[in-house]
Amino acid sequence: MKNMQKNRLGWVLSTAALLLTITTAQAEAPAAVEKPVFGEYKDWRVLGVSHRLDKKFVRAILGNDVAIDASRSGKMTPWPDGTIIAKLSWKEQIHPNWPQAIVPGEFVGAEAMIKDSKKFPETGGWGFGHWEGKTMVMYDKEKSATCFACHTPMKDHDYVYTAPVLQ
Ligand code: HEC
Repeated sequence: MKNMQKNRLGWVLSTAALLLTITTAQAEAPAAVEKPVFGEYKDWRVLGVSHRLDKKFVRAILGNDVAIDASRSGKMTPWPDGTIIAKLSWKEQIHPNWPQAIVPGEFVGAEAMIKDSKKFPETGGWGFGHWEGKTMVMYDKEKSATCFACHTPMKDHDYVYTAPVLQ
């Protein structure tokens, strides 16, 4: 009898745990999968756009408030500490109803450059990272060095390729 009660309790508990898991999983599922899941950058403003012919990506380059203020007052050499620039990439897609238009297709990812001259002296004061969902994750030194290497041609522009378009 005792055992049966125990089993029953076990069953009730595991069912409750299962239900909880399902409910949590449902709550976390993104509402519209075909559209990008925006992280903290979703309210940031546009610094520029780009279209990579080699990779066939379209991109939006966004800045946090510090970045936007710096770009609008022309203070980008160097960009001030606290600047964060986000680069969102999508695979290019021909608009199904207007084939002359290339628009964002599948979301590829969001990368980040964070200016902190004290924390990242070896890579021009920039930290490199990316967003995993809503969380920004910094790359380790090794990976950051490869990011930085490809940004060095832009040394005279504080290692940033994007020339802000809305000043
Ligand atoms: C092969 C060269 C190359 C490498 C490697 C590279 N980038 Fe870039 N990055 C570019 C170019 C070119 C642009 C500007 C055009 C574009 O792609 O949108 C850019 C733009 C950016 C921007 C927008 C700010 C800007 O400079 O215009 C961010 C943020 C960025 N890259 C992050 C990264 C991170 C993080 C890494 C490492 C994981 C990385 N990049 C590695 C070439 C590179």
